Parts: sequence; C-alpha cells; structure tokens
Amino acid sequence: MLQRGATAFLRRGACSSHASAFSTSAVAQSLFNDVPVAAKDPILGITEAFLADQNPEKMNLGVGAYRDDDCKPVVLNVVREAESRVAGSNFMEYLPMGGMKAFTDLSVQLAFGEDAKPIQEGRVAAVQSLSGTGSCRLMADFMHRFLPESRIWIPKPTWANHHNIWRDAQVQQEQYRYYKAETRGLDQEGLLEDLSKGKAGDVVLLHACAHNPTGVDPTPEQWKEISKLMKDKQLFPFFDMAYQGFASGDCTRDAQAIRVFLEDGHLMGCSQSYAKNMGLYGQRIGCFSIIAETPEEAKAVESQMKNIARPMYSNPPLHGALLVKEILGNSDLKEQWYEEVKGMAERIISMRTLLRQNLEDLNSTMPWNHVTEQIGMFCFSGISPEQVDSLAKDHSIYMTRNGRISMAGVTSKNVSRLAEALHKVTSGPSTTGP
Ligand SMILES: Cc1ncc(COP(=O)(O)O)c(C=O)c1O
Repeated sequence: MLQRGATAFLRRGACSSHASAFSTSAVAQSLFNDVPVAAKDPILGITEAFLADQNPEKMNLGVGAYRDDDCKPVVLNVVREAESRVAGSNFMEYLPMGGMKAFTDLSVQLAFGEDAKPIQEGRVAAVQSLSGTGSCRLMADFMHRFLPESRIWIPKPTWANHHNIWRDAQVQQEQYRYYKAETRGLDQEGLLEDLSKGKAGDVVLLHACAHNPTGVDPTPEQWKEISKLMKDKQLFPFFDMAYQGFASGDCTRDAQAIRVFLEDGHLMGCSQSYAKNMGLYGQRIGCFSIIAETPEEAKAVESQMKNIARPMYSNPPLHGALLVKEILGNSDLKEQWYEEVKGMAERIISMRTLLRQNLEDLNSTMPWNHVTEQIGMFCFSGISPEQVDSLAKDHSIYMTRNGRISMAGVTSKNVSRLAEALHKVTSGPSTTGP
C-alpha cells in the first residue's frame, strides 16, 4: 500500500513544475493519499455506542476483561504484593532476546506440570512473549519460516484475531468445525471429520480451555479422541491457553487437555497469557513454548524463536516478567494467586447460574442450559444478530453481533435486568432462534 502511495507521490512530484508541489502538505497528502481507512474493530464500535448511550443502566457485555461485582476493573492483591516486593529494583537493563529465563522456566511448569517429562529431559524451547497475541504471532512466523508446507487449522468460530495473525504471517489457513448451533455445544463429529483431512505436519490450533467465543470445551474423553486422531495423522497441536485457572478456578484442571496430549507423547506448541488469570492485561506478558523431540532440537528451535523476535521488538518488556516470576516463584504468593484466580472464576460461574435461574423463572421458552454448561469469560447465547441489535436499541445492553456475552460484565445487580431483556427479545414475534 505504501509502495503504491509512494509511486503516486513520485509520479505527481515528477510532473509538477511548481516548487510548492514539494511543500510539506503536498508531500504528506500525496504520500498517504491512497491509504484507506482500516475497517473498524467490531469491539471498538460496541464501546463507542456504549459510551454514547445516556441510559444510567446501560451494560457493556462486549469487553473481554474481568470486572468485579460492581463492574469495576480489578488489580489482584497478589499483584500488589509482588509489585511491592520488586519495587526499587536496580535492574532496568534490557532483558535478553528470549526474555527472563526464570520466568519462562516457571511458565512452562505451570502449563505442562512441574514434573512433566519434556521439561525434565530438556526438550522445551521457550521465550517470553508479548502476551497471548505475541505468542501466536511468533508461532505463525515460525511456521512461515520453518514449516512452509504446513497449514494452520483454526476452529470455526474462533477469537477473530487468530485469522489476522496467521494471515499476516502468510500461512495458509484451514478451518475445522467446532460449534454446533442446534445443541449450542461441541460438534465433535464435524471436528474429527475435518481434522482427518489434515496432512502430516499441519498445525492445529486448539483453545486449551474456555474456548473464545463459544465457552464450549471438549470433555476429557473428547480430548482423548482428538489427541489420538492427531497422533495417527501426525498433526502438530498448538495450544492457545489464554485462560489457565480463569475457566474452572483450578490451573491444573484448565490444563487437562495439554496433559492428555502429553500422555500421548505429542510434541506441541503452547501460547500462555497472564492477561486474564493475573489481570496483567496491559503488561503484555506471556510465554511461547515448543516441545521438541530432543534437547538439541529444542536448543535450535529456541534460538530461532529469538531470531524471529529480534527484528520485531528486540527483547520483551521487564515489568510483567518480574511480577509473574515473583508470584510463581514464591509459594506464599502462588497460593494467594490460586485463591484469587479461583475467586474470579467462581464469580463468573455464579453469574452463569444466576442468569439461567432468572431466565427460567421468567418462563422463557428458549433452552438456557448452555449458559451454565459453557465455561470461561464468554457465553455464546445463541441469539440472532437482530436480537443483539434490539438489546442495544431497546435495552442499552451491548455485545458482539454473534450473541457473545462477556460474563465478566454481569453482576448480581444487573443480572435480572439482563435476563428480562434477553427474555423480551427472544419471545417476540421476530424470534429467529439460534
Ligand atoms: C483465545 C485467545 N487467545 C489469545 C488472546 C490474546 O490475549 P492477550 O494478547 O491479551 O494475552 C485472547 C484474548 O482475548 C484470546 O481470547
């Protein structure tokens, strides 16, 4: 795009006989003349409409960030404690390209288990990343550079940015069926059928827990089936784990899919984010790891991960790594974190129960069992885009048009209002169902 704009500028500049053609405004205008305005992020549009709404009871159920029962953002007490312990540190130097080693060591233990065989055998390559998004991007670029024949299989639907990430890394994308609208649950049959079309060396993106946007996760038995198929077909699992601990309140339970694949002896990749489970959203702290076949292979892979990071951002930021290392590296803080992450998960789970209860008390004719069966920050409600529009227009309740409710924005004070509005928009004559 810039090239096109630059060519246009040179063309105009070359034709102009006036010195004024080279004034600052002329340069600025011609150089960027052909740059189109980017399409608006749908979440941004929701936030704008929410902010412009004057209704004091308005609700923003679009944002993917935790809120307490007063709808306020939360800084965990354990984070405050870690901050006080690292305050005054004299170390403000650059981290190495791969980030803080003590941090990545603790992170892979959290993901794979402290006594995981690949860790003991020195087969894990890992670098500190710019949160979950940065980990995915490193994986995508790694694929582009070293696995040029491999395609990435992405669930349908998924977190929308997955598509952008692998598109920008120029990796061929395939989609596999995941969600079944009729049951508002997993389409295990479709998933297995689609993945069986993968070719050896293809990479499959799996949400480790709390699938975004559906909140639908495979059961342990379904994970076993998926793992077996992928082993037979020699497909490489890449786990995007943006919600460890945040889904069930238990970090080990939320990593159960990864543990199933480990038991089956898979090599795998993993993206970890501390945005949600530690509330470190803006610190951009995460970990990207790959389990390789041998320690030598892991060493080579890690060196190439660093090589990809170097020209992008040179080395990752320090503060978040200091905080996470402090929390995971001290048993008292780790215990405290487990308690606090459990508290966040439990608040969300209790809002699911309340929402379903309220809807059923209103004698809604729609089934709402999926509200409590789904897990994590999001509830894929099953309402139509028109019903979402009506929630915004008639009730000042805002969410993405796919009907995804961020449960983090639901509180004991607004849940009954949400239930009443949902009941109204789903019981009118225009109801189109899921
Ligand atoms: C599935 C999934 N992956 C990755 C991310 C990236 O999050 P972050 O870059 O803030 O860690 C998100 C955030 O919503 C997500 O839902």
